[in-house]
Amino acid sequence: MNVSGGLAVVTGAASGIGRACALRFAREGADLALADRHEARLREVEESILRLGRRCLAVTCDVSRPEEVEQLAARVLKDLGGARIVMSNAGVGGSGPAHEVPLEEWRGVLGTNLFGAVHVVTAFVPQMIAAGRGGHLVFTASLSGLGVSLPFMAPYAVAKAGIVALGESLQMELEPHRIGVSIVCPGLVATRMSEGQRRPWALKPEVLEEKGMPPEEVAAAVVDGIRHERLYVFAKTEEHLLWMLKRAAPSTLVRFLGRYGRSKKVMKDLQGPVGEEPES
Ligand SMILES: NC(=O)c1ccc[n+]([C@@H]2O[C@H](COP(=O)([O-])OP(=O)(O)OC[C@H]3O[C@@H](n4cnc5c(N)ncnc54)[C@H](O)[C@@H]3O)[C@@H](O)[C@H]2O)c1
Repeated sequence: MNVSGGLAVVTGAASGIGRACALRFAREGADLALADRHEARLREVEESILRLGRRCLAVTCDVSRPEEVEQLAARVLKDLGGARIVMSNAGVGGSGPAHEVPLEEWRGVLGTNLFGAVHVVTAFVPQMIAAGRGGHLVFTASLSGLGVSLPFMAPYAVAKAGIVALGESLQMELEPHRIGVSIVCPGLVATRMSEGQRRPWALKPEVLEEKGMPPEEVAAAVVDGIRHERLYVFAKTEEHLLWMLKRAAPSTLVRFLGRYGRSKKVMKDLQGPVGEEPES
């Protein structure tokens, strides 16, 4: 499916991968509806898209609140005639030893990352089916969601695995409606994801900046994935290879990733264990 023509909705569009995808969709010729809870940054992206000559609606929205996502979908239908591409991308990090992460935080990470995606599905899919024009859903998961994860990020990995299952279920269910699905599974991307998360066990922001790929690389892979109706989208060959390795030798890879993730080499990239001040 081509990205040009029609409307693309992107959640988490104010920064990082969502911002890069929104700008890329606009350059490819789509109009945009942007949603994010960070209003000031959202307005900047809206201005950039308007400057590219595309129509753009920017809505402040917290995807963990179903009523706000319903309102977003209603505005998209009323003001712009409905969506052709819907990208559920908003997300936050979630780290720490699984047994020590407070339940409130578990709920927060799942509420935004997994239920945020569920809310997008229940708000937008009925109107896409009713319109009868087909379309495409994009879910930003992660390599973690494919079981290629590291220790101390269970809430995040659990949420992303749920998104992979959600996307796969929808692919099977929505084919008769000509609605395709792509599940995007990046490794590290240089975004703001670690910013403001001064919490133990999260990756240091400077490490993400230094080791992550530019979000524009992910955006290029997303456009290619939509165009070729790819269910799983990888921006790098290494990501695809790691996933193949996981499927070929799952126990070996999990054990290896556990040892690697607990090694000093990796631990020095984290913001410090529980009870200690993160290194600055
Ligand atoms: N950065 C990485 O290394 C990486 C790797 C794989 C997957 N991802 C995923 O990519 C997606 C985008 O993250 P990013 O890396 O671009 O980070 P980012 O922090 O730069 O962007 C995330 C955006 O989502 C918004 N957001 C967060 N919670 C929200 C909520 N409840 N409602 C509405 N908006 C909300 C933030 O305000 C922000 O603008 C996330 O789902 C993340 O899990 C990131």
